Amino acid sequence: MRENANSNPNLRQVPSTAKIEFRNVMKTFGSGAKRMLALNGINLTIEDGEFVSILGESGCGKTTLLRIAAGLIPPSSGSVLMDGVAVNKPGRNMGFVFQQSVLLEWRTILENILLPVEIFRLDAKAYRQKALDLLNMLGLAGFESHYPIQLSGGMQQRVSIARALIMSPTVLLMDEPFGALDAITREQMNSELLRIWSLSKTTAVFITHDIGEAVFLSDRVVLLGSRPGRVKEVFDIPLPRPRTPEHRYDARFIRLCRDMKHAMTA
Ligand SMILES: Nc1ncnc2c1ncn2[C@@H]1O[C@H](COP(=O)(O)OP(=O)(O)OP(=O)(O)O)[C@@H](O)[C@H]1O
Ligand SMILES: [Mg+2]
Repeated sequence: MRENANSNPNLRQVPSTAKIEFRNVMKTFGSGAKRMLALNGINLTIEDGEFVSILGESGCGKTTLLRIAAGLIPPSSGSVLMDGVAVNKPGRNMGFVFQQSVLLEWRTILENILLPVEIFRLDAKAYRQKALDLLNMLGLAGFESHYPIQLSGGMQQRVSIARALIMSPTVLLMDEPFGALDAITREQMNSELLRIWSLSKTTAVFITHDIGEAVFLSDRVVLLGSRPGRVKEVFDIPLPRPRTPEHRYDARFIRLCRDMKHAMTA
């Protein structure tokens, strides 16, 4: 595991490019007999521009970790820093894609994408062209006046990604965004996401319990163990970019998947 620079000052001789730092993050839910330790002592540094996946079995605390990073819930102790500043509420510099596509069914696709602009009380008209450009980039040109129900699951998740990108965030936090899609669509969305990520130059944190998806997308994969959630192992993914579907048949890809599977079940 890449140790947190703050736990050992000798580790980093060069100026830090840390974008996100988890410092000894702990989270409990409930109290008394119902108290449960969801996350324990998470230390992790994510570099600027890095694509990091958080991998782990159901219930190990992935969503909790991402919600803390997004400032949606506070840690019980420890902290998360973004650009060196403690996160305590959602900020404009972050885009969030939820586990389920949460589009507002009574709003058009364009109105859904512009929702964060309204939440931050900015001028929606000024962002209209940007929203249309994002739709175009995501292969959804012409769907701006449609309603979510008129789109397939994959198209709806692409709208969720457009909504997350509308404020040009420097960090994109994604919670199993493709979990509900069929295997073929999911692989297409993985390639699409990498294309968007390389264009937008964001730092990406991607939650999944799919090993192949984590390897395909990431620079590093952080494996969480469960009960309580903790960093079990961190894998570097030395596959070249741009990644293509052919990489999935590469011997190194297959070896990494096997190593992760073993580590997950160990
Ligand atoms: N608001 C909450 N109140 C009480 N317990 C919670 C709450 N949110 C999460 N938990 C508990 O914390 C643990 C981690 O939940 P979390 O949703 O982070 O897991 P996950 O890794 O995202 O799982 P999945 O892969 O199924 O989405 C679980 O045991 C869950 O029951
Ligand atoms: Mg989850």
